[in-house]
Amino acid sequence: MAFVERVFSGVQPTGNLHLGNYLGAIVNFVKMQETHNCIYCVVDMHAITVDVDVWGGPTQLAHNTREVTAAFIAAGIDPKKHIVFNQSQVSGHAELTWIFNCVARVGWLSRMTQFKEKAGKDRENASVGLYDYPVLMAADILLYRATHVPVGEDQKQHLELSRDIAQKFNNDFGDSIRGHGFADGQFFPLPEPMITGPATRVMSLRDGTKKMSKSDASDYSRINLTDDADTIAQKIRKAKTDPEPLPTEEKGLEPRPEADNLVGIYAALSGRTKQDVLRDFGGGQFSSFKNALVELCVTKLSPIASEMKRLVADREHVDNILIDGAERARAIAEETMKATKDIVGFVRKR
Ligand code: TYM
Repeated sequence: MAFVERVFSGVQPTGNLHLGNYLGAIVNFVKMQETHNCIYCVVDMHAITVDVDVWGGPTQLAHNTREVTAAFIAAGIDPKKHIVFNQSQVSGHAELTWIFNCVARVGWLSRMTQFKEKAGKDRENASVGLYDYPVLMAADILLYRATHVPVGEDQKQHLELSRDIAQKFNNDFGDSIRGHGFADGQFFPLPEPMITGPATRVMSLRDGTKKMSKSDASDYSRINLTDDADTIAQKIRKAKTDPEPLPTEEKGLEPRPEADNLVGIYAALSGRTKQDVLRDFGGGQFSSFKNALVELCVTKLSPIASEMKRLVADREHVDNILIDGAERARAIAEETMKATKDIVGFVRKR
């Protein structure tokens, strides 16, 4: 069966949405609205997999959920034409996770590098939820039988796991799937990661070998979507570089992670390629390139920051977007859950 093309992606409400989230994911969310039906989710159930002092507690979680929603809308996601909601409002995410827990193998999860990084040395003390995180992610996507998933490069391994879970489910239950009217035995699609653009992995401004991240102790390592113009300018001017002028060819960026990162950010924000950017700035000093980058960042990000501020202040409006989105998401999710339960053999009311 050919699956109807559908996009799903999620962002955690863990505070400090940054340029990496924007360029690696949200910009592509906006683009995909033109060609696909899209579902964009604020994944609050994922956020609580780390310690409560890390995600900030109930008041902070609710605030961050509204802030991520505001960022989606401010960046150009249309919650009427597409679906925007928070994960915990649709119980199917948790239900399908349980079924997938029984499909996924311990060995698969043990290979997940993000778990190893986040759990650190004290693995025994990590939450079971953190270990199970990628299974919940597979359930997020497959609850809507989504076919395309725009994400940054760091999510690639999790997407591969989602494909493995979909495939094993289809294999394990093949006869039942066919018996329920899916002639080719494919109930879940194998979701396709969409990792595109010149900034699929935006790096820290302090260290070009480390990913820009919400959890970095130094605020100078990232540009937050809520930063004002002065803060953006300061962070870019302080960003680590090297003493050489910018190269004229993209190849010349390879051994220079900081230069590569800043050129990638410029390219992504201006909708051009890195080579195009080097055509303008190659051979020049960092100082003038940084001035241009400050101007571009401020021009692109300031309107988003001020729209986010306005939306966050209008709590009822944001909550209504999430409630309306959840209703429409639930309708799709319920269809998938009914069919999944039938396929597995769970007795239910008809
Ligand atoms: P999260 O909240 O960490 O990040 C949200 C999105 O931003 C991307 N991203 C980056 N892209 C480029 N450079 C960076 N430095 C950078 N940092 C983050 C991430 O790749 C992601 O696309 N597990 C996911 C959320 C999730 C999800 C899903 C995604 C839950 N369920 C189902 C897709 C489908 C996460 O932690 O994203």
